[in-house]
Amino acid sequence: MTEDIVILTGAGISAESGLGTFRDVNGLWTRYDLEEVATPDGFARNPALVHEFYNTRRANCRAATPNAAHLALARLEREGLGRVLVVTQNVDDLHERAGSRAVWHMHGRLARALCAACGYRWDAPDFMDPQDTCPACAAHATRPDVVWFGEYPHRMDEIWERLRAATLFVAIGTSGQVYPAAAFVQDAGRAGARTLELNLEPSAGISDFDEARLGKASDLVPAWVAEVLAQAEP
Ligand code: OAD
Repeated sequence: MTEDIVILTGAGISAESGLGTFRDVNGLWTRYDLEEVATPDGFARNPALVHEFYNTRRANCRAATPNAAHLALARLEREGLGRVLVVTQNVDDLHERAGSRAVWHMHGRLARALCAACGYRWDAPDFMDPQDTCPACAAHATRPDVVWFGEYPHRMDEIWERLRAATLFVAIGTSGQVYPAAAFVQDAGRAGARTLELNLEPSAGISDFDEARLGKASDLVPAWVAEVLAQAEP
């Protein structure tokens, strides 16, 4: 059977590359106030603090390398028979650096900058600063091109279309606490897809999945990809 696979990834897939998750012990949201660094109001109150937070994350991302889980998903796209789409909540670029081509960043990307005044987007410099000017309109309104709480994620209509067409939906390394991504398992399941969770700890929505496997992404994902590729062999 030719599969149409949609894979949702979260911070857990990049954890073994050294990038922190949000809600685990020592996660980013245990050390930073989400309201201060990941909301439009927080940015309006203290843009320097928000830029500093994302400058550090951008530097960490540049220093990180893809792990076996990212590489396995790229292999699946390259060697599988059907369509493979990675929808990631992550703002890092480790899927791309592993070789995946169909990657949609629903929460934006650290590598991009956005002008809050005119909507222009460009490649982010290593360090962003409230005094930077937009290359298009010259306003002092530059921000990281990431989606904050209270903002609408990217490409949602296209994502829902792909979830409706999917034969298999897989969620990897996400706690299932942030919507709309947390509801993708229900959206895909209702439309007839089989659903699989690969995670270190059970997500909030684990009971919505047909199957769940618990463990490290670097173990689970390569093993699952090998299974899918073996089934696809003639
Ligand atoms: P969370 O930090 O909420 O969840 C991380 C998940 O990864 C948990 O379920 C962990 O059990 C799992 N995990 C940790 N290490 C792992 C490993 N080595 N292998 C496999 N799984 C592992 O991160 P997300 O679910 O991605 O949004 O968070 C969703 C969104 O909340 C983020 O995109 C971000 C955040 O606030 C915004 O900033 C808008």
